Amino acid sequence: MGLVAPYADGDTVRRVTITDLLDAKTRSEHWPMLTAYDATTARIFDEAGIPVLLVGDSAAMVVFGFDSTIPITVDHLLPLVQAVVRSSKRAMVVADLPFGTYQESPEQALNTAITFIKDGHAHAVKIEGGEHVLPQIQALVAAGIPVMGHLGLTPQSINQLGGYKVQGRGEDGEKLIRDAIALEKAGAFAIVLEVIPAELAARVRDAVSIPLIGIGAGNSTDGQVLVWQDLVGLTVGRTPKFVKKYAEVGDAIRSAVAQWSEDVVSGAYPSDSNSYH
Ligand code: KIV
Repeated sequence: MGLVAPYADGDTVRRVTITDLLDAKTRSEHWPMLTAYDATTARIFDEAGIPVLLVGDSAAMVVFGFDSTIPITVDHLLPLVQAVVRSSKRAMVVADLPFGTYQESPEQALNTAITFIKDGHAHAVKIEGGEHVLPQIQALVAAGIPVMGHLGLTPQSINQLGGYKVQGRGEDGEKLIRDAIALEKAGAFAIVLEVIPAELAARVRDAVSIPLIGIGAGNSTDGQVLVWQDLVGLTVGRTPKFVKKYAEVGDAIRSAVAQWSEDVVSGAYPSDSNSYH
């Protein structure tokens, strides 16, 4: 069976594992990963067969209303991870390590990751960065925690990168390839490549053998990830070029709420059929 496997309520399913992702790579299969932050969407995405759900630190912006991912904490993210795990049966759930909860030392990274695995019941963690986080990745892998790497536009470094722009052009591309090789050697089971030239992503694919998951990295990666609100038209303001909108859910909600509000004001809601007798 392929990695994408929709199921119906009541079906018996098992969790996707990192071995399943490696097997999919040997079959040259492409697969989707989506962010999820709550029980309702986790259930829908899981039933749709999305094999990997990421409880991303993008929750800082789309759930908590911060203007970057930097302020989010373990206390913010942990209940979201728990909700997504509780409401899914098949997807591997990956928890993002928030800014400032792993950079200090491998011990700090291990403490944070253990919290997400033990208390959050996540199946893997994601960590941003290249060579400078290798000791952290090695410590987590040694403790039996699957680690997903994240290179390219790493939003936790936005102040250093100077904005949300394409990464890895010119010499930076060579460094990114070296980082990807180093992450694989350190034991990462997959790497997210965010907003880099498609040609560079193809070179990374040739340089490593673990699954790559792209977001704004062209179509040569094994997986593609999006923030789900971007995919369905719920994002406020301009969406980046790599986003393709598959629905206008924001408009649908706005018009439903406006209609309901009008009906309340006019007395049309609740009608007799919405009332108990
Ligand atoms: O936090 C997040 O949502 C992410 C993805 C965009 C890869 O890191």
